[in-house]
Amino acid sequence: MDAREKLRRFLEQRREAGETELVFDSLSVEDAMRILGAGTGKEAGPRKPDAPVAAKETVTTERSASRGEDWRAILREAGAAPPSTQEHSTTPAPAVASAAPSAPVVETHATMPLDQVPTGIVIGEPGKKSAGGPSPYGSLEELNAAVASCTLCPLYKEAKNPVPGDGNPRAQLVCVGEAPGATEDEKGLPFVGQAGQLLDKILAAIKLSRKDVFICNVLKHRPPANRNPTPDEVQACSPFLLRQLELIQPHVIVAFGTFAAQTLLNTREGIGKLRGKVHQYHGVPLVVTYHPAALLRNPAWKRPAWDDVQLARRLLDRANST
Ligand code: URA
Repeated sequence: MDAREKLRRFLEQRREAGETELVFDSLSVEDAMRILGAGTGKEAGPRKPDAPVAAKETVTTERSASRGEDWRAILREAGAAPPSTQEHSTTPAPAVASAAPSAPVVETHATMPLDQVPTGIVIGEPGKKSAGGPSPYGSLEELNAAVASCTLCPLYKEAKNPVPGDGNPRAQLVCVGEAPGATEDEKGLPFVGQAGQLLDKILAAIKLSRKDVFICNVLKHRPPANRNPTPDEVQACSPFLLRQLELIQPHVIVAFGTFAAQTLLNTREGIGKLRGKVHQYHGVPLVVTYHPAALLRNPAWKRPAWDDVQLARRLLDRANST
């Protein structure tokens, strides 16, 4: 397969996954496709992070990963000049990163002084209620009971179990994902499937375990066949998430994936623009990173995800030192 074909296939995978930007780059997938003379792909809707990947696609991705190729290598082979990897940290990432880049050490949001990390979106004010007025749920237990009997959207009809969230009710760090998948639906617990196993490793990389943190999702019932949440479902379900954050009062929030980030930050901005910044959610620093399911498909993103969670770790350490 020549380099051009490889690049085309690579971009198709990214586009199918609903991604519009290449990591750390201003070149959009559509622009790159246009350079290649490929179609616009407007017909292909975004795929949910943990939706099944076509067999051919998996093989290509795995083969690329095993040869240590990321999109920069593919672009280089195609005769293009990809942007430097210097934006990425070269700090070793034992549990998360797949390969150590050879670029010189350059400060990124993982390592630069916290007051120099770009500030992002500011939502609400410190201490102000976020759940839209007084909430009927005075505790996580009450909230869990309300989720269990929730009929505000149709998802409860097909779900086997509600998945309100799990972890330390006084967690300093809250992880927010998208929606339960099949394993989560079976067990009634968030992030217990393949993506959850990777989440455990991500947490371990910043010296945290599931019992230290609270893990939840934007949606509390599984969308059938892991389809994307609809705007109505997000609207119906997000008061639960907002109240969870009010009750837990974490020091840091990590939004895993586009849905969590866009819901909490009330934006349509893509994940590429939301990463690498410290956002504020009612006075709580919020860091955006890739969804673990997306990392399973794109091992080259583990390095930037490592940078993101390092930033979260440092924000936590700062909160604990003041
Ligand atoms: N993906 C999510 O976003 N959440 C889960 O709980 C599992 C997979």
